[in-house]
Amino acid sequence: MTTPIRVAVTGAAGSIGYALLFRIASGEMFGKDQPVILHLIEIPQAIKAVEGVVMELNDCAFELLQDVVVTDDVNTGFDGVNSAILVGGRPRGPGMVRADLIKANGPIFTSMGKAINEKAADDIRVVVVANPCNTNALITMANAPDVPKERFSALTRLDQNRARHQLAMKAGVAVSEVTNVGIFGNHSKTMYPDFFNAKIGDKAVTDVITDMEWLKGDFIDTVQQRGKAIIDARGASSAASAANAALEHMRDWYTKTPEGQWTSMSVPSTGAYGIDEGLMYSFPVRCDGEGNYEIVEDLDINDFAREKMTTTLEELKGEREAIADLLK
Ligand code: LMR
Repeated sequence: MTTPIRVAVTGAAGSIGYALLFRIASGEMFGKDQPVILHLIEIPQAIKAVEGVVMELNDCAFELLQDVVVTDDVNTGFDGVNSAILVGGRPRGPGMVRADLIKANGPIFTSMGKAINEKAADDIRVVVVANPCNTNALITMANAPDVPKERFSALTRLDQNRARHQLAMKAGVAVSEVTNVGIFGNHSKTMYPDFFNAKIGDKAVTDVITDMEWLKGDFIDTVQQRGKAIIDARGASSAASAANAALEHMRDWYTKTPEGQWTSMSVPSTGAYGIDEGLMYSFPVRCDGEGNYEIVEDLDINDFAREKMTTTLEELKGEREAIADLLK
């Protein structure tokens, strides 16, 4: 009998949770032979809604779903957890600027970090989805000093997926042809989708899409502004695509990256590409199939890319400055 993986999802009653939980329970994250136990963590006001989701999970009769824990207490929620997806956070309210959001979310992620430190299993892996996800991940990591830093990450897989689709559409190829799109920096409108090192089939993207003005302009703008475009169109933040990206992020962390390829994760910088050590910055990474990754450090970075990577770095340093008191 395979030992089940305990997966915690915070903000379990929200739209991303709703799009995510059923896919985890059906085996899309950890495989069709791997039982799971879901730990659904919510604020007290949303527990009733979570109980409704649990009824629906039960009504799917998922054979891999061994148990569901529902709680508004983070210590119970992260107890023995192997994999944590931090979706819950304070959403941006009317009149709030990004800095307000960073400050409002800080204490939430301080308590998550502490509970993960105390309660999670030794092999815990964490991905933060709630915005500003890079900085929320930094706070979580700083408050879990006994957990190795490389176990903490933030979601930029959504940006990678968006970029792949835009490149495939422009080139008129299937999305499967587009590989090695690395995302550098923050999950925000400053993020840099690296098309120079990306491929279409076995060719460089720039050999297939020769419209450099589009690549340097509309392409980057579209990917950077996609979250806002979805909010404008739907009246709500992306949910199913964010859930899909979180699922792929966690799945691929435990899966060997195909030879010669990479994927994007925001992880604590090792100093690669001159990015401040310890800052939660998105890089192209390769995973070894056993829950470890390494940053792909040998990509060519031209002046255009360097400028973009610095802009997003400066934004992240500003975010870190705003919550410096939570990192002590
Ligand atoms: C997204 O990229 O879709 C979201 O992070 C946007 C947002 O601000 O919620």
